[in-house]
Parts: sequence; structure tokens; C-alpha cells
Amino acid sequence: MKGWMGKLRTLVLLGSLAFILSGCGRDNLTALVPKGYGADVSMQLIILTTVVMTFVFLVVMVIYVIVLMRYRKKKGDPVINPEQVEGNKTLEAVWTIIPIILVVIMAVPTVFATFHLADDSDSEDHINIDVTGNQYWWHYDYRNEEIATSQDLYIPVNTKVYVHLITNDVLHSFWVPSLSGKLDVNPENVNTMYIEAYEEGVYFGKCAELCGPSHSLMDFKVVVVSEEEYDQWVQDMQNFDTETLDLDPVAQEGRELFEEKSCVQCHATDTQNYSAGSVPIGPDLTQFADRSRLAGYLDPTKENLVKWIQDPESLKPGNLMTGAYPELSDDEADKIAEYLLQLKPSEITAESKED
Ligand code: CUA
Repeated sequence: MKGWMGKLRTLVLLGSLAFILSGCGRDNLTALVPKGYGADVSMQLIILTTVVMTFVFLVVMVIYVIVLMRYRKKKGDPVINPEQVEGNKTLEAVWTIIPIILVVIMAVPTVFATFHLADDSDSEDHINIDVTGNQYWWHYDYRNEEIATSQDLYIPVNTKVYVHLITNDVLHSFWVPSLSGKLDVNPENVNTMYIEAYEEGVYFGKCAELCGPSHSLMDFKVVVVSEEEYDQWVQDMQNFDTETLDLDPVAQEGRELFEEKSCVQCHATDTQNYSAGSVPIGPDLTQFADRSRLAGYLDPTKENLVKWIQDPESLKPGNLMTGAYPELSDDEADKIAEYLLQLKPSEITAESKED
């Protein structure tokens, strides 16, 4: 009877855990509500394996319960030695073949899907973006559009977008749970997959490989827009020129400080100097004020920005910006922040797609 209670307790625990976990996460950060082709394929595989495993679990449990009820030793029953089945060829064959069949049922579609999703033979006909992982931010280089940006990845809806992944430093892993599978980002070889989003919106991306103290803060967003909006956004990005910005005096001073204090040596601020394949030392800031998050995860308020400029280490430990420039007074940090908040090339932003 004691074994029964133990099993029951485990069942109740697992059941409630599944119930609680199913309520976890946001709509745009879950593989369980697919909004893109890769996530859809993954979901079908999740369902397939869950069905197979549930089947195995049920069969085992039913046999277990029947045996427990029927063959349990009752009071007064004589002590007997049950029939020994060791070396029984039929039994051995059955419990070897059944698992093999089950594994094949799960493996064939999985391997097929893996190769299918990695097939980039038609990439020339689609959008291609070189994605570079850095501690702890992402750089995007739009090959044909000749623009570059960081953190927020803009793509059109219902279109195949190929991402070619490589890292500048340590291993990372590129994952947008609602849209695509997860793919390692290695230093020596480019890994390619495509994203095809079904619905417009803002989707959360995560680095899924432990890459240092701020690994969990290496978030990014995928902003899925209509095809017209995408074309407009690309144009806005291409035409953006900080030299022609109409800045108020404070922001103007900020721009001068941005150059004097050597911020500009690591951060590009417009696509005028775009050169294919070159990854800046720090994130490209061309559309800084259009971004949905600051440093990947903070609300993009001026207060947070000033704090970030003055002490990035406290917000994102282990980042490369710490100590890369002279200390800034409150006034200087404030002016630089004023300037950065003017870097808004487009009306099409993550905010405009979020509801
Ligand atoms: Cu990059 Cu974890």
C-alpha cells in the first residue's frame, strides 16, 4: 500500500507541476504557441514525442496496476517462488523491438525536419541577414539592403528570412521560441536557418547557451512587420544620416561628447559608413531610440540610459563597455543620453507593433 501512496504522490506532484508550467511565459516567448514555421515544426515534433511517451507511460501503468491488484500476496497465501523468465527469447525480443519501433517513429520525422529546416539552397531568392553574437548583444547585417543594426531584428511577415549565424567571441545560441528552432552560434563555422513568421508583432529572442555572467540578459527582439512597412523601414534606415539631424543645443553638445569621449570608436550611428561584413566593437546605435529595450532588457527611459552610460557594469556584468571610455560627469552623461534619444530613423518601431 505504501508504494501506491508514493506513486500517487509523485503523480499528483508531476500533474500540478505540468499545470503550473503550462501557465508560464508570455505569448511571444513560448515554443508552445508557435507563430512561425520553425516553431510550428518543432511543436509538431513535441506533440508526436509526447503522444508516444504518454502511450508508453499508460501501458506501463496499466500493467503495473493490474499486476499489483491481481497478484498481490493476501493474508494466509503460501510463499511461492514465481516462474522464472530469465533468458526467455520471446520476452527479450518483444522488449527490444517495441522500443526500437518507438524510437524510429520519433527519430525519422525529427531527422527529416532538422535537414529540412537547415536547407538553404533557395536562400539567394530571399532576405539574408548575417547575425553575429557578441558578449552580450547581437549584430545584424542585412546583405542586400546594405544596412546594419543591433538587438531588434526587423523582418517582414510571411517571408523566408535566412539568418547566417556566427560569433565574435564565445559560443552563443540563437533562439526565438515562438518563431524558430534554436541554433548554436559558433566561432569557426556559419550556421544557417530561416525564420518565417505568420503574424506581425514583437517576439522575444534569447541567447540559449551559457556565455558569461550576463548570458541571461542577452535578450533580443524580432519585430515582424508587413511587407510595406519593411520596405519603408529599410528605406528609412538607408537614408538616416546623423549629420543632417536637427538637434537642439543640448543634444548637439551630446553629439560632440559622443565623439570626444570616444563612444564613436566602438558604436556606429548611421549606415552611411556601411561596409559589408564589418561588425562594430559595440552595438550599432543607428536606431537606438527606436529600440524596445535598453541594453537588451531594460525599459528605454532616459534615467536608465544615463545609469547605463555611467556604470554599465552594474546593469550588465562582464560587458565590454565597462572601462572603455573616461568617466563621465552627470552633466556629460545626460547630454550624451539626450543625443542618443534623437537616433530615431523610422516611425516603424517595436513599440508601434506591440499592443
Ligand atoms: Cu550569449 Cu548566452
